[in-house]
Amino acid sequence: MKKNKLHALLLSSVSLTLFLSLFVLPGIADADDDDHHDRDKWSVWKKKQVNTTNPEYTAECGSCHLAYPPRFLSSEAWQKIMANLENHFNDNAELDSTVNAKITDFLVSNSSSNRWSSNTDMRTLRISNSRHFIRKHHEVPNGAVGPNAQVKSYSNCKACHPKADADSFREREIKIPGFRFWD
Ligand code: HEC
Ligand code: HEC
Repeated sequence: MKKNKLHALLLSSVSLTLFLSLFVLPGIADADDDDHHDRDKWSVWKKKQVNTTNPEYTAECGSCHLAYPPRFLSSEAWQKIMANLENHFNDNAELDSTVNAKITDFLVSNSSSNRWSSNTDMRTLRISNSRHFIRKHHEVPNGAVGPNAQVKSYSNCKACHPKADADSFREREIKIPGFRFWD
């Protein structure tokens, strides 16, 4: 009888371990191992990006700020942005309807549903307001953005990611103007 109990106990602790390692731990590891995960996805995105530059998009949407890589927003968010360009973040970025349709097409077909875009705040339609963006940028020092005349806003990706134009946001390339080299 006693032996049976011990067996049962052993068995249940074995299955608990099995359960933990099969279902619970990978979830935790995934959260911790985010960077690895991201890097894998990153290379997939980078490969995709080779075919996803669009001269019209760069010309029309890259004059006031970075022509943001389409994958950072969902198709719904891009459509909403493109449908309201005359009232664009307190600016007017209106386009004629043919160009608008072409760019919308490009953005929608290269949009994504990933960690960046699935958390988009649909009220502000900002990449820089998505939960994933905020999480990725929580180590940015105080005073490095708003009060920093060389940055001013998180929308100004290029200020800290000098290769953003080439769609590269690697950690080792990051430099925050006026702040110690980021390592
Ligand atoms: C006349 C200037 C101008 C043009 C042209 C323009 N934008 Fe913008 N855009 C702005 C301003 C201003 C902001 C807000 C920047 C800030 O808050 O610092 C902005 C912000 C954005 C953001 C949010 C950035 C963030 O913080 O995540 C997106 C996305 C965006 N624009 C997309 C586009 C697209 C797509 C086009 C082309 C159809 C475009 N923009 C053309 C002025 C412009
Ligand atoms: C004030 C400087 C600054 C601005 C502006 C900024 N970033 Fe960053 N970004 C950082 C820093 C610093 C990190 C690294 C944070 C860390 O790893 O702890 C980072 C990380 C990232 C990463 C993850 C890189 C990786 O390999 O994990 C991406 C992608 C990214 N930023 C995209 C953007 C985009 C898109 C914009 C504009 C909408 C932007 N950033 C604006 C400073 C900035």
